[in-house]
Order: sequence, then C-alpha cells, then structure tokens
Amino acid sequence: MKISLIGAGQIGGILAFLAALDRVFSEIILYDVVEGLPQGKALDISHSLSVIGSSSRLKGTNEISEITGSDVIIITAGVARKPNMSRDDLLFTNAKIISDIGTQIKHLAPDSICIVVTNPLDAMSWLMMKKTGFQSNRVVGMAGMLDSGRYSFYLSEKLGVSPVSIEALVLGGHGDDMVPVRHCTNVNGLPISNFLSDDDLEKVEDRVKNAGGEVLKLLQTGSAFFSPAVCAYRMAKAIVFDENLATVASCYLNGEYGLTDIFFGVPCILGKGGVKKVLEINLSEREINQLNLSAERIKKLIEQLRNV
Ligand code: APR
Repeated sequence: MKISLIGAGQIGGILAFLAALDRVFSEIILYDVVEGLPQGKALDISHSLSVIGSSSRLKGTNEISEITGSDVIIITAGVARKPNMSRDDLLFTNAKIISDIGTQIKHLAPDSICIVVTNPLDAMSWLMMKKTGFQSNRVVGMAGMLDSGRYSFYLSEKLGVSPVSIEALVLGGHGDDMVPVRHCTNVNGLPISNFLSDDDLEKVEDRVKNAGGEVLKLLQTGSAFFSPAVCAYRMAKAIVFDENLATVASCYLNGEYGLTDIFFGVPCILGKGGVKKVLEINLSEREINQLNLSAERIKKLIEQLRNV
C-alpha cells in the first residue's frame, strides 16, 4: 500500500515517521516544494528503519509525480498560522496551494482518498473536492477527531481520570465556533453532567475551542503538529483497512443537518472509499443554533473560493 504525504513540514514529517513506525505501508512518499526538506526527513527516518524493524520504503521528493498510484494522500501543504492569526487568515494563501495540488492529484492519483489537514480546514476540503473532481466521500478533512480528543484531554485533567476513559464529541467547523456536545460526552458510559456542573463544563469547553490557539501561543513559531498528525494518520488507517471507524471528521454535506454544499465536522463512518456514511444525531436547540453559526462562517469562506 502506498501513502503520500503532501507537505513535509511539522505535520508531514511526523506523519512519515508514524507511517514508518507502523510498518503497514510499503511505500511512503514525502513531497514538498522546498528542496532538501522532504529528502532530508525521509533519509533521517530511513536511518531508523532497521531498529524499528520496518521494511517501508520512504522517498522524499520535490517531484509531485511520485504520488502516482497512491491509495491515500494526506495534505498538509501550506502555511501554518502564527500567534494572533485565525485559521481563516490563511484562506487565500493556502487556497492557491490546495488548488494546484488538487489539480495534480486528479491526474496522478485518480483512485486515491484525500485527507485534508491544511487550514482553514473545512474550506480547504471543499476546494480539494472541487479541484480533484472526486466524489464527495473521497475527500475528508481532519478536525473533529482532534477537537474531540482535546475535549477528552481537558476533561480527563479536570476529573483525574485517563483520557481513554472519556468519550467526547465536538462538531462543527474547525474554528473557535466549534460545538462541544455535552449530552454525547461521557466517562466510561456515565454522562459527563454527573461529574461536572454546567459552569465547569463551560470553562472546559471554552478551553477546547481555543486549544489550537493555546498551543500556538506557547510554540510561537507555528501551530500544533503532533496531535494533528496522529489523528490524520488514524483516519488514513481506518480508510485503507476498511475499519468502519465511527469518528468525527469534516465531511461533505448534501442536506444532512440542514446544510448543503459545505464541508463540516460531523459524526461519520470511515472505511473503504473514505466517508461511508454521515451520521445524523439529535441535538438541542442551543446546539443547532451554535452549529448554524459555525456553518455560516464556513459558507462565507467557501463563497470566496468559488473563483479560485
Ligand atoms: N506543495 C507542497 N508543499 C508545500 C507547498 C506546495 N505547493 N506549499 C507549501 N508547502 C509546504 C511548505 O514548504 C512546508 O514544508 O507545506 C509545509 C507546511 O509545513 P509547516 O509550515 O511546518 O506547517 P504544519 O505545522 O505542518 O501545518 C500544515 O496544517 O494544521 C494545518 O494550519 C496548519 O495549514 C497548516 C498545515
């Protein structure tokens, strides 16, 4: 199986390392426009293959044609935000990059599934679908798994339990207007409201919404990269192994949740072919209003991309 990683920056490099450690992809392509960067990272990881016990073949390259025949492609190419920037500030810079890459993928890897990580995530996923011409199930954005993971972590800290004991759900656009869904969040099956007051939950949820910003503020030089890489890689595996993984991802909506022609963070099933199903759940009026606000923001971004 062949995985291609477009962008060999912070997230791309970790993705290549995760794939090498995992030993399931025979071919790992790391592509970037910066000369030497993908080659250097691929070589560095390759030096550890005998110790890892991995037979994966890594290739770092500046030739996009190397992605030919990929089963799955993860796109992190673009610019990451700096302190005091929102993800939306990256719109036009990254749209140009995603547009070029999407056109290349259409011709070079027409059977691949694309996982988009580049921000602003939901809008970039929409653009990738348009530029590849792929059916909507074959393009998916990585965000909900990460946002839900962040919710699990902050709750686990607050409660003094392991993050793996907590199932948390965050829906909506990948921005500060994302929507943590309390009634679908539990500690080993027990409702989260049994453990925390509404006020305490509100505080945790505010932190979740700003979690990416919290990392950014500490790092100063770029945004989060370990956790986005882990989540994107987990999605890639669910797809190539046809796991039917129930998770949250940015999926194309065609009427679900009352939304059309938009990529948006929703519960879904990932497996062979990409997004097998979008799951619709009952939400409170407050949650629906919050989701609609988030969707309005994404729609405005998408409108600005119609002529890109
Ligand atoms: N083709 C391939 N790679 C490109 C292109 C292009 N046209 N344009 C830029 N790149 C590369 C850059 O050279 C850089 O190596 O994309 C890489 C991006 O890496 P980083 O700047 O380290 O960013 P990273 O932290 O990996 O985040 C990537 O994911 O989470 C989002 O907001 C984040 O949009 C950002 C993306």
